[in-house]
Amino acid sequence: MKLILKVWRQKNSSDKGRIETYPMENVSEHMSFLEMMDVLNEQLISQGTDPIAFDHDCREGICGMCSMYINGEAHGPDRGITTCQLHMRKFNDGDTIYVEPFRAKGFPVIKDLTVDRSAFDRIQHAGGFISVNTSGNTQDANAIPIPKDDADKAFDAATCIGCGACVASCKNASAMLFVSAKVSQFSLLPQGKVEAKRRVLNMVEQMDKEGFGNCTNTGACEVECPKGISLENIARMNREYLKASVASE
Ligand code: SF4
Ligand code: FES
Repeated sequence: MKLILKVWRQKNSSDKGRIETYPMENVSEHMSFLEMMDVLNEQLISQGTDPIAFDHDCREGICGMCSMYINGEAHGPDRGITTCQLHMRKFNDGDTIYVEPFRAKGFPVIKDLTVDRSAFDRIQHAGGFISVNTSGNTQDANAIPIPKDDADKAFDAATCIGCGACVASCKNASAMLFVSAKVSQFSLLPQGKVEAKRRVLNMVEQMDKEGFGNCTNTGACEVECPKGISLENIARMNREYLKASVASE
């Protein structure tokens, strides 16, 4: 395939940034999107040009690092996958493809397509954990019966990989889907009940501090989420927040 790539180039966080055009030839339909970017970078390096900075790690949809906005969609045109799982067969010969970083106040651009998503780490640190006794008296997990439905919902919420596509897709740059997944995975389980009130209050407070916007129920986050995290989690987090706010007054 022959392609025209229009890629966001930005030297650093204070650079204004611009779109650069890169024609590509002989792109195999079997390449992943990141492999195609690797080939482009090899070409740039051989021409003595600075390669395009982009994040990646596992390249199998697990780590949540590959944050690219492709043709106006987080993780590109396919559904239920990350950028590293996107293949060039999703595009046609002669296509022009726009590649930009995830854009949100809470995700400042570091360089080119790389953004700083440490805001998600700080939200996690504010409450995305449970405290358990690991002194040798740890209770066998099977000794705590959990209804199958709750276990399944907690597991579904726990599949969030923290990629940030929900934020990038939202017109308000809201992080509610991410935070609600992290709250829900614990609130549905007995192990999460101990710190439940503190968790939801602290995580929402940190989310607001980081500059993410409010949820207005447009649902773009759920559509673009590679792990299919449901909006149901936002409703659950709102209920948890209300309960915790009333209890702390
Ligand atoms: S909720 Fe979905 S889109 Fe948002 S961070 Fe988690 S996996 Fe990514
Ligand atoms: S590189 Fe890990 S999810 Fe894409």
